[in-house]
Amino acid sequence: MTEPATSSNRPPTFRREQALLLEVHNLSKRFGGLQAVKDLTFTVGEGEIVALIGPNGAGKTTAFALISGFLAPDSGTVRFAGRDLRGLKPHEINALGLARTFQIMRPFPRLTVVRNVMIATLGRHRDTREAERRARAVLDEIGLGAKAELPAGVLTLAERKRLELARALGTEPRLLLLDEVMSGLTDAETERIVELVRALNRRGIAILLIEHVMRAVMSLAQRIVVLNYGERIAEGRPEAVANDPRVIEAYLGDEEVTRAPA
Ligand SMILES: Nc1ncnc2c1ncn2[C@@H]1O[C@H](COP(=O)(O)OP(=O)(O)O)[C@@H](O)[C@H]1O
Ligand SMILES: [Mg+2]
Repeated sequence: MTEPATSSNRPPTFRREQALLLEVHNLSKRFGGLQAVKDLTFTVGEGEIVALIGPNGAGKTTAFALISGFLAPDSGTVRFAGRDLRGLKPHEINALGLARTFQIMRPFPRLTVVRNVMIATLGRHRDTREAERRARAVLDEIGLGAKAELPAGVLTLAERKRLELARALGTEPRLLLLDEVMSGLTDAETERIVELVRALNRRGIAILLIEHVMRAVMSLAQRIVVLNYGERIAEGRPEAVANDPRVIEAYLGDEEVTRAPA
């Protein structure tokens, strides 16, 4: 099913040893006079963990919205598992195995935690019992099993972040897009999410994460893509990117990041 990349459509980051799962090519999006994403090209390999970082307003969340079909690009292409996503609706893209979390979380507060996750699992399993069984399995995996019967509205911030993750996981993704799932958490809570992401990746899920918590990015990501004013200004292994003068310059004055522990 997967069409092989040919030399003409192959993005510059192609690496022979790893099959490409996500291929973002020359993606652009403008909001009125603001170029939010400009000619963005990068890839995520099968089973890889890639971090998308950059100062506030750099276009990271917009890139996620373009990839997941919530926004249509002005130009450029997104391919997932060899398939062009152009014109597909978010739920159609999700059904192909691409799931995202939202920076602005939106659980249904009056529904129980398990019901919230069942909204996701019902997309894969029509049978309600099976959907519930899957939802509980996901909650156990992410450590929210004991909260399954509580209304989502009573969860703490850290628990809501994990519920957001559970809802994405409930759709059984091959690629998970995480938008700041660690922001606002304590160090201990952050560490739990890092471990969780690592465990998900070990069972084969590729991860693309937007994250301001640099400690987490540095320990998780195999590769980092840096955005500034909508453009990719650097890409590479974590150590190289963290020492790149263009990256350091882009972050100067970004309070949220410069305050974060190294
Ligand atoms: N729907 C929108 N309409 C207009 N401007 C937007 C919209 N979404 C984002 N923007 C603007 O686009 C830029 C990039 O935003 P965003 O992708 O949220 O950045 P990031 O996630 O990197 O902080 C910001 O200047 C933001 O104000
Ligand atoms: Mg954002």
